[in-house]
Amino acid sequence: MNNIIYFDNFATTSLNEEVFDEMKNFLLNNYSNPSSLYEFAQKSRVAVEKSRENISNYINAEKNELFFTTGGTEADNWALMGLTLFKGRKNGHIIITAFEHSAILETAKFLENRGFDVTFINPDRDGFIDEKNIIDSIRDDTILVSVMYINNEVGTIQDIKKICNSVKEKNPKIVFHTDAVQALSELVIDVKDLNVDLLSISGHKVHAPKGIGALYIKSGTDIENFVFGGSQERSRRAGTENVAGIVGFSKAIDILRESREKNVFKRLALRDYFLKNIKENFKDYEINGSLDNRYSGNVNISFSGLDKEMLIMTMDFKGICISGGSACSSGSIENSHVLTAMGIDDELKNSAIRISFGENNTFEEIDEFIIALKEIIN
Ligand SMILES: Cc1ncc(COP(=O)(O)O)c(C=O)c1O
Repeated sequence: MNNIIYFDNFATTSLNEEVFDEMKNFLLNNYSNPSSLYEFAQKSRVAVEKSRENISNYINAEKNELFFTTGGTEADNWALMGLTLFKGRKNGHIIITAFEHSAILETAKFLENRGFDVTFINPDRDGFIDEKNIIDSIRDDTILVSVMYINNEVGTIQDIKKICNSVKEKNPKIVFHTDAVQALSELVIDVKDLNVDLLSISGHKVHAPKGIGALYIKSGTDIENFVFGGSQERSRRAGTENVAGIVGFSKAIDILRESREKNVFKRLALRDYFLKNIKENFKDYEINGSLDNRYSGNVNISFSGLDKEMLIMTMDFKGICISGGSACSSGSIENSHVLTAMGIDDELKNSAIRISFGENNTFEEIDEFIIALKEIIN
């Protein structure tokens, strides 16, 4: 599949070969179950705990505050369910943004159907949440506020530290969660500085494998366990550990530590080059969301009058992978709830595509994309 042009790095990223090498050892050689008692198992146990330490260090968490999950979706579900239904609560108030990933949105809707009140805060047309709207929505019975760090369709970055501190100022008892799945590859994440209680991350957005993620739980946060069974993850999340995935995630974090800043500059250069070429070659287009405070590699662009499904399929025919909706539902092309929440009108929504450059993309690939787009549009 070397001939494809992959511009969908928000959906997932390629597995780094060094990550794969690290994982292979724990799939083929040190395949023991970390919970077993013999010495062979200790290699897996040590690897899991070293990885936990490494990843928690990276986000400035304590080692005992990081819990491995199957990915961002599970971490998000844990955050919401663990504070509400699983806690034995029958009602209460939750605030989320209306343009969260479906892992948060659908869980919140589920809770709404079970008796909880949910306030959905709309972003503005640029893709930013006005913190005042959150603060004004806080009630005496508000349990949780969840605001995503970087939006997975338009890439806009919220000021999580500011929003979180304002929420805590109004009511320190409210638990604050952020979905940082798309932020991990872009920003320095410091959970102590952000002051958040819960934070979700996922491996496959940073060149680790799919099926591994983590939830940061600030020590002292009153949240119920999520998966019941064995005593893994200090009895908080049962199930034999995905040792290879955990080790791979840790290796990806090692690589990120060295390369994150450089990657941001590379992606910015790609995006600038792309936008320059779009400007030179096309007239009827609009960029959705602000270009400031945005993920370096993200472009969400509408070509008025063009049907996005047709565009994506035609690009696919030419070996170019782009997306029409959110990362995880790009298989089914629905109208974007993100753009709807931002107040983007139907015509622009119907033709909106998402391009997410990775640091491994090239300027030549962008040239090819522009040629293909000219053919389609003309
Ligand atoms: C913002 C955001 N949250 C959560 C998820 C889900 O993560 P995972 O695929 O690891 O379950 C994604 C995946 O695209 C995402 O972009």
